[in-house]
Amino acid sequence: MSKRDKFTSKIGIIAAVAGSAIGLGNIWRFPYITGKYGGASFLIVYLICIMLVGLPVMLSEFIIGRHTGKNTVGAFKELAPGRPWFLSGWLGLFASVITLGFYSVVAGWGVKYIIMSLFNNFSGKDISNLGIAFDDFVTSGLDPVFWQLLFILFTGAIVVLGVKNGIEKFSKILMPIFFILLCILVVNAFTLEGAKEGLAFLFKPDFNQLTMEAIFVALGHSFFTLSLGMGTMITYGSYISKEEDLTKTALQVIVADTGVAILAGVAIFPAVFTFGIDPGEGAGLAFVTLPAIFTNIPFGYILSILFFFLLTIAALTSAISMLEVPVAFLEEETKLSRNQGTLLICLAAGIFGLLCSLSNGAVNITVMGQSLMSFAEYLSSNILLPFVGLLTAIFVGWALQKRVIASELKLKQESTAYNVFMGILKFITPIAIIFVFLYSIGVISF
Ligand code: PHE
Repeated sequence: MSKRDKFTSKIGIIAAVAGSAIGLGNIWRFPYITGKYGGASFLIVYLICIMLVGLPVMLSEFIIGRHTGKNTVGAFKELAPGRPWFLSGWLGLFASVITLGFYSVVAGWGVKYIIMSLFNNFSGKDISNLGIAFDDFVTSGLDPVFWQLLFILFTGAIVVLGVKNGIEKFSKILMPIFFILLCILVVNAFTLEGAKEGLAFLFKPDFNQLTMEAIFVALGHSFFTLSLGMGTMITYGSYISKEEDLTKTALQVIVADTGVAILAGVAIFPAVFTFGIDPGEGAGLAFVTLPAIFTNIPFGYILSILFFFLLTIAALTSAISMLEVPVAFLEEETKLSRNQGTLLICLAAGIFGLLCSLSNGAVNITVMGQSLMSFAEYLSSNILLPFVGLLTAIFVGWALQKRVIASELKLKQESTAYNVFMGILKFITPIAIIFVFLYSIGVISF
């Protein structure tokens, strides 16, 4: 591909940015953490984080990326020459490799579940057998490693093909199909015995349940699910043409991403209560519940194949966007070619992911008392992404020239919209993140 490809159409931008945002974060992670951290009250905090933190940070990343047309490190270097802001870009690069590593493990589970669906492996199994099958698989060592590496290989192949050919084409056609399939599962959920209980769990808040840890996780997830704090939206922003309306793009993507997460919740929680699973079951929640749903509905065989296939594609478009961050950096800032850069990062993330996968049970690899896999997820989502997001918000809010921001947002500096945006970005966003951080490490308490 040419060095500085641009997205060719409006729908292409939305598809690629939404393709990045919508992924395992929505279908796998959102339901499992919502289940773990109390349901509706968690959901509400998450939605607040999306609006007050996610949206401003997404716009900030877009502004940095589109204005400079550069990769995440190069962009900071251009906007703040001689100052250390580029280190934020470096942290994002680090986050991208870590995240791609553990993300590919879960995506590999998705690939395995396509195969299991094809061979009709779920049929006749009840919920406890499905749970055992999942545990046996993820702890079995080489089997999940194989699928994880296969997934990384796929991701690398598509990134080598370049922005236009790879990313746009894939996202545009398949994501709408995925959406329809999710709607079918939602309709089905309403017919289940546990529908009422499941929906109440998801939508009727009990704030007594809300812990500070839940708020910390909700904040982290708002970064993870919107692909923020890594430089993804800086990098993708650099491919967006000057005519596009960044605010509109961001809003559309956020609505789509949040919508898909909630749909996934509505599809899953009624089933959770119908089959008597613990909503706080953990990382296996979707992988146990969804097969149980498919074995109980008409055309379940076909639907399960389709679902896990499309889930894997959704994961692929997200993984592509993670890989694109360091690859664009290596291509533009070092002597490596695009292909060499891709190979290098795929190797690093592949090996790290392999260790994460093994740490699920086959080999004892722990960091700070948890498996490497959980640690990687924790480090990425709860620490690195919010921290880089914080730096990004401070950078755009306090260091970047007003002229640049106003022109990228196509707003006048005197306008209310501009001032509201800057007010949130300068004060509310950073203070919220800092507050949650300080509380979580125990510096402040009530
Ligand atoms: N947003 C993606 C998801 O929800 C994950 C992701 C995180 C992608 C960070 C890119 C960067 O699955």
